[in-house]
Amino acid sequence: MNRDPSAPAMTQDELKALVGRAALAYVEPGQIVGVGTGSTVNCFIDALAQAQAQAQTRIAGAVSSSEASTQRLRAHGIAVFDANEVGELAVYIDGADEIDPRGYMIKGGGAALTREKIVAAQARRFVCIADQSKWVQTLGRFPLPVEVIPMATQRLIRQFAALGGEARVRLRDGVPLVTDNGQHILDVHGLRIADPVAFESMVNDWPGVVTVGVFAHQRAHVCLLGTPEGVRTIA
Ligand code: 5RP
Repeated sequence: MNRDPSAPAMTQDELKALVGRAALAYVEPGQIVGVGTGSTVNCFIDALAQAQAQAQTRIAGAVSSSEASTQRLRAHGIAVFDANEVGELAVYIDGADEIDPRGYMIKGGGAALTREKIVAAQARRFVCIADQSKWVQTLGRFPLPVEVIPMATQRLIRQFAALGGEARVRLRDGVPLVTDNGQHILDVHGLRIADPVAFESMVNDWPGVVTVGVFAHQRAHVCLLGTPEGVRTIA
């Protein structure tokens, strides 16, 4: 999609809306779609609802990666299925905090990383929708979210420190944020993740880690990147 070069610059929200709409091209009528979490995905959910209302794309429903997305889907009248009720999904659509040219991502800024990884693993294809601010050459500028079991927090903070990372417990209203799964989030600052596959495997093995926010094993197969020139499709 090309834009008029004389048009005013697009805001980040407009870029999110652009890729949210573009993701509709990956949704087939009658499908159950895997749906991620976050402000970019909210644009996708709204576009999906509009397409349903106009009878352009009528899906059977969604498998959702968070309570927040479930609420939004249901508010639009879109059926939400439990992941265990359905088989393999054709497509999972989600945003990212960072994505690199190989489709490796950092996710979890919205604290939904565990369910996001579960739904991504159930889908044949991961379509990442992101505005251009998320594009990086090497993962690690965005503090890495890690969902942890609270009794392991202090040891895990020390394990990340040994790698040169500073892990902080994510707070909400002054107390540790509790995820949809009843656990806590560490945000790890100062990492440079040169080998995302090896890094994800290593941290996954640490006792007390529920999910690490590196998505390398569940990488994106397609990235729809919102740029001022339009949507760039990177596959
Ligand atoms: C939530 C996520 C989101 O996909 C990520 O944080 C991007 O969010 P947004 O679209 O709001 O920038 O991983 O856990």
